[in-house]
Order: sequence, then structure tokens, then C-alpha cells
Amino acid sequence: MICLMTLGTSESQVRYNEAAIAHAAALFERRMYDYAPPTGDAPSLEQMLPSFDRTALGVAREYEAMGGRPITVELEGRAAAYGVTFEHLGLTVGSVLHGVDLSTLPDPDLVAVIRSALLERKVIFFRNQHLSEEQQTAFGRCFGDLDAFPFGKPGDDPFVLEIVHGDRSPGTENGWHTDVTWMERPSLGSIAQMITAPPYGGDTLFADSHAALLGLPADVRKQIEHLDTVNDYRIFLRGRDGKPFPDELVEALKADIPFGVTHPIVRTHPETGKQALYLHGGFMRQDTLVDRRTAEPIGEQESMRLAKILLAQHARPEYGCRFSWEEGSVAFWDNRAVQHYAASDYFPHHRVLRRVTVAGDRPFYRAG
Ligand code: SIN
Repeated sequence: MICLMTLGTSESQVRYNEAAIAHAAALFERRMYDYAPPTGDAPSLEQMLPSFDRTALGVAREYEAMGGRPITVELEGRAAAYGVTFEHLGLTVGSVLHGVDLSTLPDPDLVAVIRSALLERKVIFFRNQHLSEEQQTAFGRCFGDLDAFPFGKPGDDPFVLEIVHGDRSPGTENGWHTDVTWMERPSLGSIAQMITAPPYGGDTLFADSHAALLGLPADVRKQIEHLDTVNDYRIFLRGRDGKPFPDELVEALKADIPFGVTHPIVRTHPETGKQALYLHGGFMRQDTLVDRRTAEPIGEQESMRLAKILLAQHARPEYGCRFSWEEGSVAFWDNRAVQHYAASDYFPHHRVLRRVTVAGDRPFYRAG
């Protein structure tokens, strides 16, 4: 016998609880029947997940595409041969690799293990590395050439970008994005090391762009298959005070670095063949989505409507993982497979991140 009345319980509260308890069993039985009727096939993911919220479906579909495991058995075995173990942070995205020392160049087989881990997990992390600029760039070059970055504070090495924030420069990387979509060949991946960590906050969040695409409503997915974005670096052509840079500086830059490059919104990953939602809200011209088949813009209103939906997509926490840095932590993310967001929650404290970027190729879309 359950006692429904304790000291101070109102009668209406008692009546509500009586009704809730009386109906709970029947309602639960009905819901279970929906999921698992006594006869027939097991319910599909679509049947189990509510149609008004596709987020969990996107994650589940991506996990299915990964073979229902965070990493393949084959990679686990190759890594174990080097004493490397995995700590997974999210279901489909993000793992810390333990047992790797990046201060000396890994041998080619270990580089291959790290590359496979990047491809399978989309972003990987290493703790306690404390790399010099030289060691960090050397590690980056194990994966390809490096891209220099013209709009930030270079380190001693021009291929190093220092992202420095403090009491006069709050963090500004707090929007979901993938790096450098203003480039014709945006960087394959970025390798960042925390040099000075704030006492609190300063985490970076990562979201799986494959799952994000799979989580879109079917009609939106269909519509964006043939759409391109035009991307440029206009946001870097003015100071913090909003004042535009001198014309001659801007014209000289535009003469050397193309201003306005076209990329597909649905990008096929060149190594895994998987499709990803690929866009950067700050660089893309949100009012000018273009139909690739006709090379015509789809119209300002429709562009803005779609851009709003698409730019909100990575922000659902289900798609991602969150990394809390320590000094000497290194993150290596695949710009073709994830977006990231650096939480700007540590002002006025100091945070210094050192980043190098590995050269990539021209994004393309392949149906399928
Ligand atoms: C970036 O957006 O590339 C920087 C990420 C971070 O500061 O954590």
C-alpha cells in the first residue's frame, strides 16, 4: 500500500497522484506495444525515435555507419601494438589517445594509426604533450603540408597561429564552424595545443558533421544536395573597432588570395566517402545559396531560411563531445568531418592556444 498523503499534502495533489498511478501501467503497456509489438519485425529506428526530433536518429544512423562500435576492431588491434588505448568522449565523435608521445616523430605505422583514429573518431586528443613549435609543426607535417594563416598572430614559425585571449580580447571563436572555408582548398585538419589554460572554462566543443547531416529532416537533406555556398574572408578585413582596413591592403590581398570561393553544402569526405554538412556561418554568404545544376542563386528569402536551419544544426549537444583542456593537451580535428566551438566563458582570464593546419583538398559532392 502506497501512502499518498504526507504532512501538508493538498487534496488536489493526492487526487493527481492517484490518477497518475492508476493510468501509468496501462499507458506504459501501450507505449511498449508501439516499440515492440508481440509479433512482427523489430521496430526501425524511425519508429522508435519521434519524428519531430531527428537529432537522436542522426547520431544513431552515424553509429550504424560506423559498424555499431566507437572504433573498428582492426584499429583497436593496430593501436594496441603500440600500447595506445582509447578513451571515447562521445558515441560517434572524439577520443583521447593514451600512450602516445608526440615530442618525437611517430614512426610511419604509428602515424597511420593516428590517421585512422582521426578518420574514425573525427577529433582526437592527446594529453601532457608540451610540444615546442618545432615539434608541433613536425607532427603536423606527418599528415601533409601545412597551410599558413594570414589573419592571425603568427608564432615564431610562420606556420603557427597563436590564438590569444585575455582581459583586452575576449574569446571570439564561440560560433560553430569548420576552419577556413574561405580557402579554395580548406585545411584537412587543425592541430591545436593549449599553451596557457584559463583557471576555469575555455573548453572546446566538437560536433559530428555526418550525424548532423543525417539528423536533418529528409526534405531539407534532399533540397541541399545540389546547393553550394559562396565563402569569403570579409570578416577579417576590419579591426575590432569595426573600421575597415585600408583599400590598398585589401585589394593587394584579394589579388593574391581568391575572395569568394564556392563549396558544396553537403561535402563528401575524400577518405571515408561519407557525406557531411559543410558550412561556416561567418564566411558563407547566407543570402546567396546557389543551385549547382543551374549555377543560379536560389533567392535571398529561401537562402536565409535554409541557412538559419543549417547553421543551428551542429549546436544540438547529442552530435558532439566537449574537451576540457589542460596545458600541454593537443587536439587534432578533421575539418571535413566535425565543426567546433570554443566556449568564450573565461574572460578576463588568459588563454593561449597554438594551432597549425594541415593542407586539404577542394571539397566535392558525390551522390550516394
Ligand atoms: C579554433 O576555432 O580553431 C580555435 C579553437 C579553440 O580556441 O579552442
